[in-house]
Amino acid sequence: MANTGNGAAEIGVIGGSGFYSFLDDVTEIQVDTPYGPPSDSVFLGELAGRRVAFLPRHGRGHHLPPHRINYRANLWALRSVGVRQVLGPCAVGGLRPEYGPGTLLVPDQLVDRTKSRAQTYFDGLPLPDGSVPNVVHVSLADPYCPTGREVALAAARGKGWEAVDGGTLVVIEGPRFSTRAESVWHRSQGWSVVGMTGHPEASLARELELCYTSLNLVTDLDAGAETGEGVSHEDVLRVFAANVDRLRDVLFDAVAALPSNEARDCPCGGALGGMDPGFVMP
Ligand code: ADE
Repeated sequence: MANTGNGAAEIGVIGGSGFYSFLDDVTEIQVDTPYGPPSDSVFLGELAGRRVAFLPRHGRGHHLPPHRINYRANLWALRSVGVRQVLGPCAVGGLRPEYGPGTLLVPDQLVDRTKSRAQTYFDGLPLPDGSVPNVVHVSLADPYCPTGREVALAAARGKGWEAVDGGTLVVIEGPRFSTRAESVWHRSQGWSVVGMTGHPEASLARELELCYTSLNLVTDLDAGAETGEGVSHEDVLRVFAANVDRLRDVLFDAVAALPSNEARDCPCGGALGGMDPGFVMP
């Protein structure tokens, strides 16, 4: 019987349905959390000799829009099976003409323009087990794991994909795309790409002291960076599908190259600075 408890996995991948097939020897488990169920089952398996947990961000069949994803449950579920390092591939729109479809960007900054999402574990509200989270303020000055970023960039380079090193991901509420005026404004701020799921994934990972690395696949030029009709959902799906194999290859090499959880030397694992979260970390 496969290990399905804490320690079942070390690395988590939160991604789209194109990634199920990349795990060997898969065990599907349902994980409950104090925040309700995650987007779907957690799929445990092996990849590049590492124990990996895969979670389909939008659920099987992609039925959850970005603003309805239970981000807190997703990160909690991954941590509860042992995950300490998370890779988060996602589709984004390019805000500069040079970041056209097929660009891979590994951001180093994040701007939150979402509106309605539960975005913290430290909200002072009791959990079902009676524990009450303390008020804790984590630093998100540098939202992404420095090691994970380096590993992802090297993995892309190794596959002949010259990924953009750094840039700012602005996360909108969705599910609609930006108006042209919004998009022009995002671009004028110097931000690089726009997506709908990068927040609160990164900040919740930080609150659980997980390493989190965002891999942004540009599927379209956003309305402010092109002069055509604006983005369409079909374009996003088509370009994502055209690039999913090489993104999977990059993830494979990144998973292989990440340090063991015990060998992590980035600051992510100490994000709470020893402060008591007020609940037992999963
Ligand atoms: N995901 C893919 N393309 C996008 C865009 N242009 N805006 C927001 N999210 C996206």
